[in-house]
Amino acid sequence: MLRELARIACVTSTDFASVIDTPSSANQQLLDALHQDLDAAGFRLDPIAELLGSEAMDAFARDQITPALWRLAHTAGQDQSLATVIRLFQLGQSVGRQDLDAVFERTGCPGLLELGLLEEHQDGYRAAVALTPHASDTSGELWVAHDLGAHQRPGVLRTDHVLGIGHASTTLAQITLRPRVRRALDLGTGCGIQLFHLLAHADHVTATDLSERALGFARFNLLLNHRQLRLDPADLGRRVSLRAGNLFEPVRGELFDLIASNPPFVITPRQEGHQEMFTYRDGGMAGDRLVRTLIEQLPAYLNPGGSAQMLANWEIPSGEQPWHARIGDWFAAELDVWVIQREQSSPSVYAETWLRDSSQTEDLTGYQQEYEAYLNDFATRAVGSVGFGYVYLAKPGSPRSTHRNFEAIGHPVEQPLAPYLQRDLETLEQLRAAGESWIHWHLEVAEDVTEERHQRPGAEHPGVILLRQGAGLRRSEILDTAQAGFISACDGELSINQLANALDALIGEGEEDFMPTLLSGVERLIRHGFLRKV
Ligand SMILES: C[S@@+](CC[C@H](N)C(=O)[O-])C[C@H]1O[C@@H](n2cnc3c(N)ncnc32)[C@H](O)[C@@H]1O
Repeated sequence: MLRELARIACVTSTDFASVIDTPSSANQQLLDALHQDLDAAGFRLDPIAELLGSEAMDAFARDQITPALWRLAHTAGQDQSLATVIRLFQLGQSVGRQDLDAVFERTGCPGLLELGLLEEHQDGYRAAVALTPHASDTSGELWVAHDLGAHQRPGVLRTDHVLGIGHASTTLAQITLRPRVRRALDLGTGCGIQLFHLLAHADHVTATDLSERALGFARFNLLLNHRQLRLDPADLGRRVSLRAGNLFEPVRGELFDLIASNPPFVITPRQEGHQEMFTYRDGGMAGDRLVRTLIEQLPAYLNPGGSAQMLANWEIPSGEQPWHARIGDWFAAELDVWVIQREQSSPSVYAETWLRDSSQTEDLTGYQQEYEAYLNDFATRAVGSVGFGYVYLAKPGSPRSTHRNFEAIGHPVEQPLAPYLQRDLETLEQLRAAGESWIHWHLEVAEDVTEERHQRPGAEHPGVILLRQGAGLRRSEILDTAQAGFISACDGELSINQLANALDALIGEGEEDFMPTLLSGVERLIRHGFLRKV
């Protein structure tokens, strides 16, 4: 009780060290002891994968814990310490005091309780939160605390559930460009996953969230992993600022070089008298209003030359308009914009996805009502489908022509994608800087590009010539005869202009638009990384 009161008092200090129902980061010595105990138990990705085996690991990635439990029950001579930690923090099982004391020698059971990581039950102790190892490309492995998922704890998720590292989290981390910057912002930080990655290339990161619980988890994770993240626990503020509040409220008037956000973009029917919402995915606004608000407000928080990346859903009205007509209108004219639509779902598929996500499939009557609510909601705005994808926007450092690119890429892409996005953006800058002189460039075909020729059996010439990219966005382009001829001669020896003139003389047949059509196709192949400047 005393501890609870002390914690409540601490919340008002707004450093998020002791938010109720959140792991406590008030005692650094205990956090360091926990770090040592987890390390000694080998609670790392490779040993876990070795102990559980690939089938149980794959099942766990699908939120199924039974194969892992089965494996732990049937493996002789296993590492008991590691098995105990997995049972506790990954599988949500009850563990006895003796086993806990044996593994957590330095932290001890009282220490785990003080950290807010354990709950006492009749049959022993259970984890109050999940701890998940996460491989970061720059900081080594981290342990990330977050709320236990529906597969790790019985009952429905709490509405202020703090999400673990999901597919969307890693996607955003992998598409985020990583230039060295002074100030970065992670809007809607949750357990802090984007923040950890941003710390590798930003001098200072501000992480915001509407939920104080989320900020409590983020602080705990920062301090548990301070060595890997190269933070001074006694001076966290030098590198990180954690702030509670709605959207940009906590950073009003401030400017950043880079903004990353995996916002609560899920479209949710707003029903009268039905206030329950999951903060981790629902921003509380009608339709895609939250995404639109972010896109409209973001530029005011970017330094000239700065950029922002986020994941988003957007509604696509029924009718003949292209998918990007509506979202395209939300971006201010002075911005460079690149939107990659990865999925387009019908209203019913969308409803099913998100009802499943919150386990609302369990109660059939409720499920049907909620499902109908989605369909009614979409119908009121004549929504034909919902797009999901990646949004990039950049604020030019000086006035210049801007670039807009809306691409629909539904096939699997190579992750991490960021280096390829970066390369395309750099090519665009080079083209912009070259002006008309780009036609004097010498080109070669990128190493990951292959050509496919398809023809009817017995036909003299191919009906379709297809160029495929093996890496990055893995785009493909159908070539006309002139482009195919151009590509086959791209060995860096002749300039674009020389090659195009030679082809014009050979196959142009005096057509006026032969050269402009060929050059615009070539420019597109350069922009998309099929052809490189030598
Ligand atoms: C989808 S989760 C993303 C968590 C984490 N950044 C990641 O990439 O996994 C969205 C986060 O936004 C927070 N959030 C919800 N509404 C918000 C709002 N109006 N302003 C700021 N953050 C909000 C939620 O609490 C949640 O932590």
